[in-house]
Amino acid sequence: MTAHEPRVLAINGSPHREGNTAKVMRWVADGCEAAGAVVDWFDAQSAEIDYCLGCNACLRTGQCVQDDSFAELYERIQVADGLIVGSPVYEGQMTAQLKTIADRLALLTLYAGVLQDHWTVGVATSGVAPARPLARQLADLFGQRSGFVGLRTASLRAGQLPPSVAAGVRGIERAKAMGRRLVRDIENGRTIPPMKAVWIRLLRRRLLPRLVMKTPGEFAAVIEIWRDRGWL
Ligand SMILES: Cc1cc2nc3c(=O)[nH]c(=O)nc-3n(C[C@H](O)[C@H](O)[C@H](O)COP(=O)(O)O)c2cc1C
Repeated sequence: MTAHEPRVLAINGSPHREGNTAKVMRWVADGCEAAGAVVDWFDAQSAEIDYCLGCNACLRTGQCVQDDSFAELYERIQVADGLIVGSPVYEGQMTAQLKTIADRLALLTLYAGVLQDHWTVGVATSGVAPARPLARQLADLFGQRSGFVGLRTASLRAGQLPPSVAAGVRGIERAKAMGRRLVRDIENGRTIPPMKAVWIRLLRRRLLPRLVMKTPGEFAAVIEIWRDRGWL
């Protein structure tokens, strides 16, 4: 149970601020707000976030060496209890904008579990390809999956459709219900599935510490986060 109103951050990985993906994300956000959450919104396209340099400095310092919009995004992620992460399907994958954000988060996510306590709804839209696999992947990549919404916006019969028509009233209601469920998961502190929990514990308490303690100086920030969380 959170001591404050649940806070949800929506990260839109589409180049279109008002595009198909943003519209579906907005339905999920409406559901979150209806359930009492405050929703913050981040458009990847309006931010300046450069590629990960692969320098590993974040493991040592807890921060990226690059001076760009990522620092602000990282702070907004840290104060959020849950995330809505969206992308259009580009060549079967997430957009380069969102992948860049995933890369910039990757090492602290893997080693220090910075997204481990975030419940997440993944959203993907596509033209004709299935969108659900990417939506599901986003929910798993950016925290713990609360749910996912994939919407295909074109059909051979009807051509290109606006998201509201492609989804229909039931699709919009399902997306809103996903938002309400995200807030319930945050408030109830829903526990992650037992097998996944066992794997995370094994990784964080046994496998990674062995690796990290071989060169502790390289992982100073990770070790500090583990100490704060009582993992060491
Ligand atoms: C560069 C590019 C690549 C795309 N690749 C695919 C694809 O592989 N499969 C697909 O079904 N749709 C593809 N699309 C269509 C978009 O996924 C679809 O129109 C999406 O709803 C756009 O969302 P947006 O309005 O948020 O940008 C592509 C669109 C662009 C511009």
